[in-house]
Amino acid sequence: MNYALVTGASRGIGRAIAERLAKDGYTVIINYRSNSKAAEETKAAIEAAGGKVELLPFDVSDGKAIEAALTAWDTAHEGEYISVLVNNAGIRKDGLLVFMNEDDWHQVMQTTTEGFYYTTRHVLSGMLRARKGRIVNIASVSGVSGLPGQANYSAAKSALIGATKALSKEVAARKVTVNAVAPGFIATDMTADLDEAELKKMIPAGRFGQPDEVAALVSFLCSDEAAYITGQVITIAGGMG
Ligand code: NAI
Repeated sequence: MNYALVTGASRGIGRAIAERLAKDGYTVIINYRSNSKAAEETKAAIEAAGGKVELLPFDVSDGKAIEAALTAWDTAHEGEYISVLVNNAGIRKDGLLVFMNEDDWHQVMQTTTEGFYYTTRHVLSGMLRARKGRIVNIASVSGVSGLPGQANYSAAKSALIGATKALSKEVAARKVTVNAVAPGFIATDMTADLDEAELKKMIPAGRFGQPDEVAALVSFLCSDEAAYITGQVITIAGGMG
């Protein structure tokens, strides 16, 4: 069985990635924090389409919770390992730095960087033993170029990009690839409060992207054909950035 773990997969881009990887033949492990209703809906949708899916709730900003959940998964799946990891869970808490409170800084940093560190470190050992693996980190154009009002989010996503590049060099010889995807504006709950009509003017393609379009890129990066692509940041932003 080929297992793919997608963090924050109960909705939005993570859900689209989970659905796509299930179509690609993976048994998808949907991680979510607290929204069990959305996670169950995503699971049901994947199963209705003939896919295989498991649920694995944990909070990606809590290293102990990640270790406990993944250790329990290992125990329940003796002899198996997770061959695809998509670090997708993320939050934004925008504000100008001069007014930004400590919680907004730390929560955004912690969700992205601790989530990457604890989840990847655990899952990576199985990939290295098997000499096979794909890791895709969902960054953002904000982490590539920086966006005003997002110093915390840009810092977190830049950190994720740095870790992507460093780790790719550590594990390439073991046939594990590590890449980052940097979306621009994608139509999800995360962007629902933004002024789409105004922001579209900045996007050469003239529209927000769809979660399925990001999922198609992730699917390719996880495929056998993408074996020679590693340490890269691929922007998917309709020409922006
Ligand atoms: P979303 O808000 O719909 O989904 C984020 C998911 O992550 C949710 O399911 C949420 O519950 C989960 N999550 C948040 N904190 C978590 C935690 N501590 N533990 C476990 N799960 C947690 O947003 P969207 O748009 O689907 O975002 C997915 C990823 O794409 C995020 O990393 C986001 O930063 C990134 N992104 C999104 C863009 C957009 O325009 N929508 C643009 C660039 C990057």
